[in-house]
Amino acid sequence: MRFFTCGVLLLALTATGGDAQIDVCGKAALNTKAESRIVGGQAATAGSWPWQARLLIPVTGGTALCGGSLINSQWILSAAHCFSSTSTTGVVVNLGETQINNSPNSVSRSVSQIIVHPNYNSQSQDNDVSLLKLSSSVTFNDYISPVCLAAAGSDFPGGTTAWVTGFGTLSFQGSASSTLQEVSVPIVSNTQCSASYGSITNNMICAGLTDGGKDSCQGDSGGPLVSEQSGRWILAGIVSFGRGCALPNFPGVYARVSEYQTWIDTQITSNQTGFIVFNCNKTDLSGSCSGEPPITNGTTSSTTTTTPDVHQTTTTSPPETTTPKAVCGRAVLNSPVFDGSSVVSAGQWPWMASLQKNGQHVCGGTLVSLDSVLSNADCFSSSPVASEWTVVLGRLKQNGSNPFEVSLTVTNITLSNQTGSNVAVLKLSTAPVLNDYIQPICLDNGRTFPVGTTCWAAGWSSGRGGEEKVLQEFQTSVLECSRPTAANDSICTTMFTLAEGDSGGPLMCQQGASWYQAAVLSFARRSLRRRRAVAVAVMEFEKLSQFEDFLVQTVGPFLPSTINSSSFNPTTPTTPIAPTTPTASVSTCTSTPVWHIHKKIFFYLRLIFHTLWNIISSEHKH
Ligand code: ARG
Repeated sequence: MRFFTCGVLLLALTATGGDAQIDVCGKAALNTKAESRIVGGQAATAGSWPWQARLLIPVTGGTALCGGSLINSQWILSAAHCFSSTSTTGVVVNLGETQINNSPNSVSRSVSQIIVHPNYNSQSQDNDVSLLKLSSSVTFNDYISPVCLAAAGSDFPGGTTAWVTGFGTLSFQGSASSTLQEVSVPIVSNTQCSASYGSITNNMICAGLTDGGKDSCQGDSGGPLVSEQSGRWILAGIVSFGRGCALPNFPGVYARVSEYQTWIDTQITSNQTGFIVFNCNKTDLSGSCSGEPPITNGTTSSTTTTTPDVHQTTTTSPPETTTPKAVCGRAVLNSPVFDGSSVVSAGQWPWMASLQKNGQHVCGGTLVSLDSVLSNADCFSSSPVASEWTVVLGRLKQNGSNPFEVSLTVTNITLSNQTGSNVAVLKLSTAPVLNDYIQPICLDNGRTFPVGTTCWAAGWSSGRGGEEKVLQEFQTSVLECSRPTAANDSICTTMFTLAEGDSGGPLMCQQGASWYQAAVLSFARRSLRRRRAVAVAVMEFEKLSQFEDFLVQTVGPFLPSTINSSSFNPTTPTTPIAPTTPTASVSTCTSTPVWHIHKKIFFYLRLIFHTLWNIISSEHKH
């Protein structure tokens, strides 16, 4: 864990047949999607819906039947209402079945954990979601494989074709089916569905025909409602409730999977769950989502890794740039409005990260390498546990849809340990796919931002950005620091208003075509700054270059700001650096020019040592 940068690299190289769900999810080799004709459906052929699970749950006086969906090799997503308790005793999950008692490819598992959504409301059926951990993992094959999950920001317009499958009753209060049934049902908008039911929350999605006749029914609960996009099947809903079954004007109601990405991400701590943004533009009744660009992703993982998991969202919407090597500080969509503070548009600051705990924005951060996010150490003083945090990239609004966003889990948090303020580096479980909306910023390694330079800050915090809490930007300019001793270690700017959620975000200054992070914003220390600032109206921030050693150690080689230099030199930027004076925190070093060379040699020695260390320690783990 300590030398995670190298660890990830090695694991990625040594990965053998990993089970990153994003690579395998939603593919049903044997699904012929037979022209349609549960209620009003038809028998499915073997392997058509390889994520379908049949759950047998002991209840007083018998066994209850529910459905579920396999989402990785060890987890089933189902409905909360299937479980009156979280006791796993006697609960059985069958996978690979099409014909009960006659499926050569079926496997059976007991369950080691049942997690019911903490906000499940049995009255309203809001948050009707649960997770079941299988006692041991299953091996994927043509009959057993995971479904992809609709990522946050997915859109299922009314009329989108979806399929629901299950072993439930063939009619309301009828008898359960011994063969897996499938039926296609169009998505019904929440507005229309609310008109029928009166109480449809944003956590629900409806599907059915106005005339009725096709629906899920008793015993299908917990099972999958899926839609196809670019050859992948994506879980849109979880069978939840309905009035009767297949009645006209009463579609089936499902838990809306895209609302649970963060929750699922925080519950599942091993293996990868494949989240994909569903974005069907077709609203005609016949339409499956075809003609979308294929999904690509940059996930690498290994079945044997102890690395906590990746939950990568991919989106088919933004065109992915095919940058051969990553460069930092590029924002093709950047056009800041030079009028002080304002609301930001998508892609303006593509390195901005929202650091979240329990689905709530806590602090800002910046993508500073392919897989590291920089923030303020203060953000983690109460909660330094990596698994509690989610990093959202490509986000613009805290409330509202963000078609380009990606949510990632954190594997490691490292805090710098200097006197004064400190920064934090979060290692992401996977490197996000870079596009116009997600790019790393350059780390300042001792540049000079002359007095008068215009710089920007950005952040989210409550009470700003309107209803949707859109990212805000603040224009500021570099000033002489009033405190004489601050000259070397601080950057001072004109006043702008920081609020709590801004902590960890960047102070950004442009040099040439590249944006550099000059400092990490800190709200906690503002009062201290302010007192000083009152007289002179100056904001003072610790220069990011103060943390260069720490950053090289934790983030790795700084990304180059341009790629046209002949070689990729990890520590030396390709644009000229202003002369720097080693700061007080580097007290063991002299201010001779030799220092930079020494530091480089030392860095490479350390890299070699860490790599060797990782080989040794990963050999022990496997
Ligand atoms: N609550 C039912 C169950 O426990 C599922 C009902 C789905 N109803 C419907 N009309 N789609 O199995």
